[in-house]
Amino acid sequence: MTADLKAKAGLEDVVATSSSICYIDGDRGVLAYAGYDIHELAAHASFEEVCFLLWNGRLPTRAELGDLASQLAAARPLPEGILRLMRALPPADPMDALRTLTSALAHYDPEAADRAPQAQRRKAVRLTAQIGSLVATLGRLNAGGGPIAPDPALGHAANFLYMLTGQRPSALETRAFDVALVLHADHELNASTFAARVAAATLTDMYSAVVAAIGTLKGPLHGGANAEVMKLLMEIGADAPPEKVDEAVRGMLARKVKIPGFGHRVYRTEDPRATHLRQMSHDLGARAGNTAWYQMSQRIEALVLQEKQLNPNVDFYSASTYHALNIPTDLFTPIFAVSRVSGWTAHVLEQYANNRLMRPRADYVGPEYPQRWTPVDAR
Ligand SMILES: CC(C)(COP(=O)(O)OP(=O)(O)OC[C@H]1O[C@@H](n2cnc3c(N)ncnc32)[C@H](O)[C@@H]1OP(=O)(O)O)[C@@H](O)C(=O)NCCC(=O)NCCS
Repeated sequence: MTADLKAKAGLEDVVATSSSICYIDGDRGVLAYAGYDIHELAAHASFEEVCFLLWNGRLPTRAELGDLASQLAAARPLPEGILRLMRALPPADPMDALRTLTSALAHYDPEAADRAPQAQRRKAVRLTAQIGSLVATLGRLNAGGGPIAPDPALGHAANFLYMLTGQRPSALETRAFDVALVLHADHELNASTFAARVAAATLTDMYSAVVAAIGTLKGPLHGGANAEVMKLLMEIGADAPPEKVDEAVRGMLARKVKIPGFGHRVYRTEDPRATHLRQMSHDLGARAGNTAWYQMSQRIEALVLQEKQLNPNVDFYSASTYHALNIPTDLFTPIFAVSRVSGWTAHVLEQYANNRLMRPRADYVGPEYPQRWTPVDAR
């Protein structure tokens, strides 16, 4: 009966659900949230506007945007118990700490198990607000500083940088970070969003679905790639001559090691997000008087394109962009989560609104059926 089940490795090109949230045309390099092209959003939208767009399928009015900003600001302070737990954890990779602490947040949310649509929406706002606070505070503690209370007058991007550094960011830094959040907010059925939807389809709670997504984002084939890019650039070294850059990349290709930040399951042309991040990496590096990482990235890009016909993805230039914003490398992937939680929760809301349990099949390739049972002492 199961003999005709044939697996599609990596579920490539399998259409697993319908969705109104995100449109991708991988051949033409198009990405749009609820119909709005990513280039237009990168030019004009704030992260808060994108959150509203993802959760509601339309842009907010000024009043709605103001309401959302107030709700996010009100939800940003972390419960005292979460700060205690954060300090009690053994030294950990911030992505692991984020996974644990996001799970713990559910214990402080009186609506955690409330399935009413309006309660689910409020949780999407709270999770988005609090994951920003968690990541910024983890960064503070790891740098040996104390937590900084959020500033309700600041938008999501500026407040994050403020809670991370204790300094009010410049307009350029704020806009650069805001655009990075806009670019990372959603990406159709990427692995972590798929994980969130599979979890949500069991009708588990939103926190559990987001924890599944965080664990999935962490992998180096997904969100973990941005930190791997920075590690690669640093291993090569800022002062390395061009030949050393080429040698390192050619060596990896010869050993069949994947170059982090290149290739994509869906895009067959440039990832439209990379276009903006490349420019941001250049602009922020130039402003800081250090374009070494940008230039090295460009050299790697040209070489990988020439040797493997592969384009950079969202993670490649986000590494040098975040580095130019003085963000430590181990926060790069958590910062991906700071943005992507908006998309995860949008997909979870969409899944809840029109749910069917996700339960695919496997093509069985194990020992032939039936095997004869042998008692333990006779094996
Ligand atoms: C994103 C990714 C997982 C997509 O993988 P995929 O669709 O399964 O593609 P495959 O791994 O089957 O790769 C297809 C071919 O391209 C090559 N390739 C893909 N990404 C590559 C990379 N980053 N560096 C070198 N070669 C790469 C593969 O080796 C393979 O070549 P081959 O046919 O000669 O063996 C993959 O490109 C990758 O691992 N990239 C690096 C990690 C990364 O940046 N992840 C973030 C994604 S947004």
